[in-house]
Amino acid sequence: MARKRLSARYPTDLPAWRLLKTHYRDDMKSSSLRALFADDSRRADRFSVTSGDLLLDYSKNLLTDVTRDLLIDLAKQASVPEAVEDLFTGKHVNVTEDRPALHVALRSKMSDQVAFETPGVIDVWRVLTRMENFVTAVQEGELRGHTGQCLTDIVNIGIGGSDLGPVMASRALRHFWRPGMNFHSVSNIDGTQLVDLIETLNPEQTLFVVCSKTFTTQETKSNATAARAWVAETLGEDAVRDHFAAASTNHEAMDTFGINPDYRFGFWDWVGGRYSLWSSIGLSLALVIGTEHFQSLLAGARRMDMHFRQAPPEENMPLLLAMISVWYNNFFGAETHAILPYDNRLDRFPAYLQQLQMESSGKGVRGDSRPVTTATGQIIWGEAGSNAQHSFYQLLHQGTRFVPVDFILPVRSSGATTARQDLAIANCLAQSEALMEGHESDDTYRAHPGNRPSSTILFERLTPETLGQLIALYEHKVFVENVIWGVNPFDQFGVELGKKLATSLEDVVSAEKSYKGRNPSTHRLLERIKKLRST
Ligand code: F6P
Repeated sequence: MARKRLSARYPTDLPAWRLLKTHYRDDMKSSSLRALFADDSRRADRFSVTSGDLLLDYSKNLLTDVTRDLLIDLAKQASVPEAVEDLFTGKHVNVTEDRPALHVALRSKMSDQVAFETPGVIDVWRVLTRMENFVTAVQEGELRGHTGQCLTDIVNIGIGGSDLGPVMASRALRHFWRPGMNFHSVSNIDGTQLVDLIETLNPEQTLFVVCSKTFTTQETKSNATAARAWVAETLGEDAVRDHFAAASTNHEAMDTFGINPDYRFGFWDWVGGRYSLWSSIGLSLALVIGTEHFQSLLAGARRMDMHFRQAPPEENMPLLLAMISVWYNNFFGAETHAILPYDNRLDRFPAYLQQLQMESSGKGVRGDSRPVTTATGQIIWGEAGSNAQHSFYQLLHQGTRFVPVDFILPVRSSGATTARQDLAIANCLAQSEALMEGHESDDTYRAHPGNRPSSTILFERLTPETLGQLIALYEHKVFVENVIWGVNPFDQFGVELGKKLATSLEDVVSAEKSYKGRNPSTHRLLERIKKLRST
């Protein structure tokens, strides 16, 4: 049933797709942004849209009214409005795993009754209340470590969505940390992060939050086991129950690990890893920013959800952002898209969006099991502010690649002086203008071709509420793109093979077993590794 809903027809067979192809070839391929602005004094207004606290200015993109109308027609012909309803009503939009994807329920109000009949949804607020009580008890010092000291250092142990969400959001919301609380994170497989971190920590004041939907992920298990050993060694085995909390759907594994039942927070199989910040995976974040700010984050996301569900296509920010992305990806042939936030506190936002986009859309098979007929899953990359200018902007301005850009710009600083944010704003505006206008010069080395498109997302200040809106904006943008392509954004089978091979190689690397695989290069590399290890 749901399979058909997720765009049963190939997008390339839809009338709007064919018209867009002709429109691209005849009108837009060689169009000039400068000419588009010269022809329309109201372009900046007419190609801007607001939602909640966010303004999206997409006027510096290579599109016209005709393009926008055709892109909206494409969305309608690909059944985007119906797919949005399927998402919010708990239909099994994750067709390959036959379940809903209900991150929107996690930030809804109970009175919204989002997908109420889905098992687990009614428990969302019970878990949230438990989380809030736990956070308050830690922050108020009612709940302390094994030796009676306050728990001030929160260490998130997780990877992928169980790391990127809490890490990105805690950095973004640094201004809102409760005084005295600190956030740390450990994710990577090689163990050095934890080694470096525990040098700076007092175990008596440290609370590890193990975040893993499955509780089987190798990185998280090995980091959690090492952290557990450190706590047991420094404070004694009995201290483990006072210094570990967990967010997971795997209660058996939490039992085995020894997670105190009062320190466990569940969630549901319909929460995807990269959409899980809103669930108990947000616990470590909530522990540093507090429950009120965590609630504001959820409220911000809900605000964007309502806009996404209710706004007409021509005013619908996630839909427009998605269709602009489809326009560049599938008609201009753009392979990458840069995310450039002008607030250093958003320095992990590009990495967060990398997983959101690339794990969701990096697929060549559609939800209905047929191969796709278009490019999907553009490469997302980026860096915060002028760090990026002094690194890769050279390529953006004068290189041969076509790279559409999203600038993300808060106009007030969350922590630094207004004067410093003025500098950031000036740089951001200068860059989007320079990319578009270019610079003519007789000196070919110094000429800038210009005509390079960008969108700008503007808001007053980076707060829990605006961050919630921003994240939900991109979540829905990715959803719409996948509906167009007919791809299921909610599975990630592509990461499984590598995990399986790594498990089979573990014993080979540690020299107990011989390599049974058939790859000559792996074989040779293993020989060299063993040789280097033996000397
Ligand atoms: O990388 C694959 C993945 O399954 C991600 O989707 C997920 O965010 C991450 O691993 C972590 O998974 P878990 O929360 O189960 O440890």
